[in-house]
Amino acid sequence: MTDHLTVVDHPLVQHKLTQMRDKDTSTAGFRRLLREISHLLAYEVTRGLEMTTQEVETPLQTIDAPVLAGKKLALISILRAGNGLLDGILDLIPGARVGFVGLYRDEETLQPVQYYFKVPENLEDRLVIAVDPMLATGNSSAAAIDLLKEAGATNIRFLCLLAAPEGIARMRDAHPDVPIVTASVDEKLNEHGYIVPGLGDAGDRMFGTK
Ligand code: URA
Repeated sequence: MTDHLTVVDHPLVQHKLTQMRDKDTSTAGFRRLLREISHLLAYEVTRGLEMTTQEVETPLQTIDAPVLAGKKLALISILRAGNGLLDGILDLIPGARVGFVGLYRDEETLQPVQYYFKVPENLEDRLVIAVDPMLATGNSSAAAIDLLKEAGATNIRFLCLLAAPEGIARMRDAHPDVPIVTASVDEKLNEHGYIVPGLGDAGDRMFGTK
């Protein structure tokens, strides 16, 4: 993956995203849509993975057929909203290793505060996909990537559902080597650091909290 930013403009992704934006979509509906959309986004973010071949015997013939190469990839959920994307990606890549970065956003400074960090070993040998539905200021995402690099990761991709231009710029400055895959680049951030038009607080919408 060479582009710094990939916007997945597939009709199914865009249709589901519109339903997720709707403030009247229920918690159950939001969760289901996020899971479905994460399948489609996972397809994009895993493009170009290294492949090898494996001998397989079909009912008719033995062939060398393509399979994923190398160590299992690492999915890193940036808590808590990252878990919504994580579940859907694991449907497609059940053997992936999983880590968690716990960061909350101080609502006054909008700066990330770390409270949890647990990641798979040998990150340096794995493709690492960090997931967080909302790339807003980019502060938490950039901080999470800092932590992953400190833990050894060298090949990182970032997957989100929505991105603000400010967050993309922040990530490009801090981590130009980390490609971003998203379903939409929205207009802007508001004064509270929310993405506009966005979909509100992704964590609250997926977990039914306020
Ligand atoms: N986090 C969210 O959940 N929503 C936003 O709009 C911004 C950050």
